[in-house]
Order: sequence, then structure tokens, then C-alpha cells
Amino acid sequence: MIVITGATGALNGATVDHLLERMPAADIAVVARDTAKARRFADLGVTVRQGDYADAALLPRAFEGAGQLLLVSSSDPRADAVGLHRTAIDAAVAAGVGRILYTAHQNVTPDSTFTPSRDHAATERLLADSGVAWTSLRNGFYAHSLGLFLGAWRQTGVISVPADGPVSWTAREDEAEAAAIILASNGAHNGPVTLTASAAPTFADIAGMASDVAGRTVTLEVLPVDEWVAAQVAGGTEEFMARFLLGFYRAAGRGEFAGTDPLLGTLLGREPRTVRDLLAAPTPTP
Ligand SMILES: NC(=O)c1ccc[n+]([C@@H]2O[C@H](COP(=O)([O-])OP(=O)(O)OC[C@H]3O[C@@H](n4cnc5c(N)ncnc54)[C@H](OP(=O)(O)O)[C@@H]3O)[C@@H](O)[C@H]2O)c1
Repeated sequence: MIVITGATGALNGATVDHLLERMPAADIAVVARDTAKARRFADLGVTVRQGDYADAALLPRAFEGAGQLLLVSSSDPRADAVGLHRTAIDAAVAAGVGRILYTAHQNVTPDSTFTPSRDHAATERLLADSGVAWTSLRNGFYAHSLGLFLGAWRQTGVISVPADGPVSWTAREDEAEAAAIILASNGAHNGPVTLTASAAPTFADIAGMASDVAGRTVTLEVLPVDEWVAAQVAGGTEEFMARFLLGFYRAAGRGEFAGTDPLLGTLLGREPRTVRDLLAAPTPTP
């Protein structure tokens, strides 16, 4: 049995869809905070169990019988993500899970300025100490997030950032498909695996691609940090979130998101989607 958390979300929901192409629904269970949100899986014959990382008592039962358990990383920037992941890993150990898989990030850096990168580093240490076989899916940064990071460049012709650096922007759909392939391979991938597109363009590179796609010049401006934060806040972003994102840009500027790996393309049997594909799409996902 493969047990999957986070299936009510985009990434692991798509992973379940890909798994259903590879194995019977009876071999899959999803764990949801709100089981009503997992109705579409129940309708397909997938077992739906209730579970929340914040409720330790429920979890061992939710994870029962899992030869493999896919743990989603916490999606709340204000939560104690490592504490939640610890609760989930402890419950997996208590439930006798065969292998834990975890949706980490390509940037796993203990002293990163980007909070999730520090959380992933701490969580991988918990996995390594758990005594259970584990696989950490180090996914590239979601390429569709560029819709948010690039702002209204199609209208303004300008991309504004507080720091520039290379990022291995990767399509979430490709990462979901790769996770299903790895789950279906029954332990063929052990420890950290890096799943990224084949290139890590800088924002300057992306401005160049955007110029090609738009047929006019799109420029990159690297603003002083305070000016960039103020512009974000003036545009309606909470200051907490603006500073959270600033941590991303600073980490990018330090080269922390530069790493790429051919594994994703090998698993998919095709070239992963690229940033240029995304920019050329008529209606990019926000
Ligand atoms: N690689 C990247 O660039 C990148 C970018 C953003 C996020 N991420 C990470 O990747 C993960 C998956 O991304 P996504 O796009 O699928 O996010 P998403 O659509 O927001 O889904 C997050 C999923 O995690 C579940 N979840 C959140 N907190 C939980 C908890 N305490 N206990 C159990 N389940 C919990 C949510 O359940 P509910 O439906 O009940 O809310 C939802 O199913 C995110 O959680 C985040 O850690 C990665």
C-alpha cells in the first residue's frame, strides 16, 4: 500500500493521478486534513483517511500498512514546519512504514536565507536519523511561481527584483509525475534525489527570454532591498510575505538554487518543461 499526504494539494494530488495510471486504486490511500476535500479520490476507489501533522494521535492509524508513505512538506510559512514534519516522521516510525518519501526542495541549505530551505535540511536530518528507509524529493522551484515573481512585465516591460541569481525553475506537473514514477519503482531511489529542469536561468536571462517571447525589450531592474520591500507592500503584499520572498532572492543571489540534475528528464523519458515554454504559454498560471 502507498499512502500519500497532501493529495488535496496540487503536487501530491497530481502524483496520485499519475500513480493511478500505474497501479490499482485499492493499493493507494490518501491522508487528508479534511476528508471531504479528497472526495474525488474516494470516487476512484482510493482509500481516504483523516490525518493532520498537527494532531499526533491520529497519524499512526492514518499511516498504517504503508509500504511507502509520501509526506508533503508543510505549506504554511508561519508554521513550525520542522516540528510538524517531526510529528509525521515519528508517527511513520510508530506505524512501521517501510519507506518515507518527502517533498523537499532542490535547495537544502542549513543556513539559507530562505526559511523552507533550512526546514528541508532539518527534516532530511530527521529522516536520516529515523531508522526508516527514506527518499527526499529535492524538487526545483515551481516554475509557475514565476507568474508571481515576474510581476506585470507583459504590461510594463520591466522585471523588478531585489537580487538576481540562477534558479532551476521546474514545472510542478513534471515533479508530480516523477514522484509517481519513483513511488512505483519500489525503493529504487534512496536518500536525496534532485528533480529539476535542465537549466537554471538568472532573472537577467529570463528578461532576455521574455523579450524574445514578447517581441519587445523587457528589462531587469535590481532594486535596493528597502525599495523593493516597500514596492511589494504598496502592491498589497503583507510585509511578512515580502520578507519571506526576499529570503528567496537572497538565497538565489548566493547561487543556492543553481543546481540542476538530469534525473528528472531520465525518469520522464523526455525533456522537462522549460521557463521559455512557460513564458510562451498564452495564459500563465498565477
Ligand atoms: N518547490 C517549490 O517551488 C515549492 C513552492 C511552494 C511550495 N512548495 C512545497 O511543496 C508542497 C506541495 O506543494 P503544492 O503546490 O501541492 O501545495 P498546496 O497545493 O498548497 O498543497 C499543500 C498540501 O499540504 C497539505 N498540508 C498542509 N499542512 C498540512 C498538515 N499540517 N498536515 C497534513 N497536510 C498538510 C494541504 O492540506 P489541505 O488541503 O488540508 O490544506 C495540501 O494538501 C507545499 O506544501 C510546500 O511545502 C514547494
